[in-house]
Amino acid sequence: MDAIRIYGGKCLDGQTRIQGSKNASLPVLAATLLIKGTCEIENCPEISDVYHMLRLLESLGCKVTREGTLVRVNTEQVSECDMPADSVGVMRSSIMLLGALLARVGSVKMDYPGGCVIGARPINLHLQSLRNMGVAVEEGEGGFSACVNRLKGASHRLPFISVGVTENLILAAVLAEGTTVIEPAAGEPEIQTLCEFLQQAGAKIEGIGSDRLTIHGVERLFPVRFRIPADRIVAGTYLAACMCAGGRVFLQDTPRHHMESVLACAGQMGAKLKFEPDGMLVTCRTKPTGCESLVTGCYPAFPTDLQSLFMVVMSVSGRQGWIEETVFENRFRIVPELRKMGADITVYKNRAYVGGRGRLHGAVVQAEELRGGAALVAASLAAEGTSIVTNRHYIDRGYEDIVLSLRELGAEIELA
Ligand code: EPZ
Repeated sequence: MDAIRIYGGKCLDGQTRIQGSKNASLPVLAATLLIKGTCEIENCPEISDVYHMLRLLESLGCKVTREGTLVRVNTEQVSECDMPADSVGVMRSSIMLLGALLARVGSVKMDYPGGCVIGARPINLHLQSLRNMGVAVEEGEGGFSACVNRLKGASHRLPFISVGVTENLILAAVLAEGTTVIEPAAGEPEIQTLCEFLQQAGAKIEGIGSDRLTIHGVERLFPVRFRIPADRIVAGTYLAACMCAGGRVFLQDTPRHHMESVLACAGQMGAKLKFEPDGMLVTCRTKPTGCESLVTGCYPAFPTDLQSLFMVVMSVSGRQGWIEETVFENRFRIVPELRKMGADITVYKNRAYVGGRGRLHGAVVQAEELRGGAALVAASLAAEGTSIVTNRHYIDRGYEDIVLSLRELGAEIELA
């Protein structure tokens, strides 16, 4: 049952609610370590990456309770600093606990989080930047240990923009001695959400949403109740699914202001978008018109996490085009699987050239990572005939229940 069966070739018609953001929840949950007491996090998605983060927090001494999407984290008893290898290995986002743990307990021991199929995902810049804040880092074969008496504010001039490094430095800086400047800082909505959470708890942060963040260390932060915004990548996933299959769907809670580049691209490709106070109505009565080129980049450019989904939209459009991936070195992994469905795609270095065949047929295809897996499901909705997408567990890392959500949108889809 680790697969999904889709009966494709049918238009969508229905509505679904967009879940809370995975990439906002994870750093906010890590940030609770900085706050003695109980934080309440609303709209936390019920996905396996959040499950692993909560298990990690418990392994560090936190008391975690969950009522649906409301998560309570009490950190009074945090003492541990030895991260359990199995959880670190399962979820590379554990690296974002580094900054918070150094601020809270002053030492961390953990295995290297490792890469994944989309790239090597090194952590060199994380460790180098924390060294600038007075952290002593000992690197070994399979992991490292880090310790510091009290983190010192520093000015960081980063060689490139990194979401994870920006998050780790924010978490290390809010209780540090003195002022920290991060430049260029990532400006993704998830970073803004993390800063808003910390400000609500008493942190002093300037430049939120810009590429230069200034953080003045404070003595203490205070417990808060905070709501996670809707997930822009999940909203973009179901938007792309409707563009592939055709039809009319209402995506409740769509965070339209976090996804301007995606909405602009969808509009240029023929999707009719109507915004209501509680969501977005998507109407796709004709095939997508395709687009000549698509280049991923740091926010607010087109997000790398939706690159695979829009590759499928381009494959269905029947118009030639190319996609350039500028963030990760190996994020065209779904191309061989899409070729099994009849797609005409050629990869050369960091560009994928999509041909104009415009028709897909059902096949058995294999998910190898989270967003590529979701893209194969979207392709199966457009394909004539039945498809099976295996390795569903990758998709469950970031989507609460993709089968239920797409069934609510009118798809003929089931666990297999
Ligand atoms: C975050 O990953 C997201 N993950 C990714 O989403 C997202 O694709 C990525 O940001 C870019 O937006 C979470 O938020 C949990 P980076 P992160 O550091 O922080 C290189 C998903 O599907 N780099 O901005 O790991 C790195 O290899 C996931 O939800 C170094 O070289 O991304 C990459 O090429 C996938 N050394 C580039 O920087 C370092 O020390 C940007 O990565 C750190 C990063």
